[in-house]
Amino acid sequence: MPLLGVNLDHVATLRQVRGTDYPDLMQAITISEEAGADGITMHLREDRRHVQDEDVFQARRHVHTRLNLEMAASDEMVAIALKARPDSCCLVPEKREELTTEGGLDVFKHTRRLSNVCRQLGVAGIAVSLFIEPQKSSVDKTLEIGAPWIELHTGAYALATGSEQESALADLRHAAAYAIEKGLRVNAGHGLHRGNVHPVACIDGVHELNIGHAIVADAVAAGLTEAIAAMKRAMRGDQT
Ligand code: PXP
Repeated sequence: MPLLGVNLDHVATLRQVRGTDYPDLMQAITISEEAGADGITMHLREDRRHVQDEDVFQARRHVHTRLNLEMAASDEMVAIALKARPDSCCLVPEKREELTTEGGLDVFKHTRRLSNVCRQLGVAGIAVSLFIEPQKSSVDKTLEIGAPWIELHTGAYALATGSEQESALADLRHAAAYAIEKGLRVNAGHGLHRGNVHPVACIDGVHELNIGHAIVADAVAAGLTEAIAAMKRAMRGDQT
């Protein structure tokens, strides 16, 4: 079974929509690691809509497993990564208007920039992963760019149904097998939830799945009973 990287962006989303100091992202990191997360992932977006710069620096001090920073391949983000020193960086495309990362990197258009960023981060001892579409040509381009890891975008698989989903799964399998044969470490993620994760977790050789939104959404259902009971206790003035 692959490792599980837990993406906690949406804990920060909940905090940012109200500008409160809760929920506590560092507490969420502790809970995730105690529950078996093999790594913690956060995406510092250009518009800072969820994770903030200070969260990344605090997380670096707080994470006991591994910290994976998702970011655009911009000079601003590279400077932050070199200062914060996550264990790995996953380079993702970013458009301000998108709801979430809506596709893999265009490794063909941005080859030179991605190579430079991989070199800068690699020299600093930070492993670099490129978030790519599950295509052989993107894997070949990753090898040319010089990144040691890829993260296969599972979004198309997650959105598809029936035979289209089978075909998207086959694309993931073929891309993973090809990349592993070429010596790359293969992670995968985006849009995975309890209902669709198993076939992806069964793909041979996939090292880690990065999953966020569905875990935070499940945590709402899992925690709502206790949260309401705790509020009633607080209304009564109980100390616990
Ligand atoms: N992997 C990458 C590269 C991502 O950009 C994201 C979303 O931030 C994820 C994994 C997690 O996706 P989800 O929140 O849909 O599980």
